[in-house]
Amino acid sequence: MLTQRSFRDVLGRFTTGVVLVTARTEDRLAGMAANSFTSVSLDPPLIALCAAHTSTTWPLIRSSGGFAVTILSDHHEEVCRLFSTPGADRFAGRTWASTPSGHPVLPDGLGWLDCRIQSVQRAGDHELVIAEAVDWNVAAAGVPLIFHSGRYAGWPPDFL
Ligand SMILES: Cc1cc2nc3c(=O)[nH]c(=O)nc-3n(C[C@H](O)[C@H](O)[C@H](O)COP(=O)(O)O)c2cc1C
Repeated sequence: MLTQRSFRDVLGRFTTGVVLVTARTEDRLAGMAANSFTSVSLDPPLIALCAAHTSTTWPLIRSSGGFAVTILSDHHEEVCRLFSTPGADRFAGRTWASTPSGHPVLPDGLGWLDCRIQSVQRAGDHELVIAEAVDWNVAAAGVPLIFHSGRYAGWPPDFL
């Protein structure tokens, strides 16, 4: 059956990592978890992500013109859940580092990128966001937080 449920299910079979998309906006820090993050271009360095129209956080991030991406490690499941919980105090109780643009990043992620929004295009119930990476840092190798069929895993994955 070609239902919205089975569409979600088939897309869930595509294994991804998870990132935090964060920004220092005019009046506060804003951030959300995302697994739609992907690389787009090496020259110039471009990345993309999709943000739901229902997100209350994305318009705040968009209004700042840029954002940081923290690539999550397997020990970040809790912070990932926090950054997808509506109304939660997402930045409390953790130490944050800052990118050169002033956006918050987790100091113990697998890496971060400092991004400037290049285009935002309506795409169904999401916005397709393309952004230029203006700075980045590669951390020491580590185990990524893996997301598959709506579940988190580390390495080796234990979905089956
Ligand atoms: C693993 C995971 C991946 C997610 N990926 C996205 C995404 O790519 N785009 C998106 O708009 N929301 C995504 N979300 C949902 C947001 O993190 C968050 O729930 C949503 O922004 C609601 O909070 P808000 O109203 O503060 O924006 C994801 C959530 C989880 C747990």
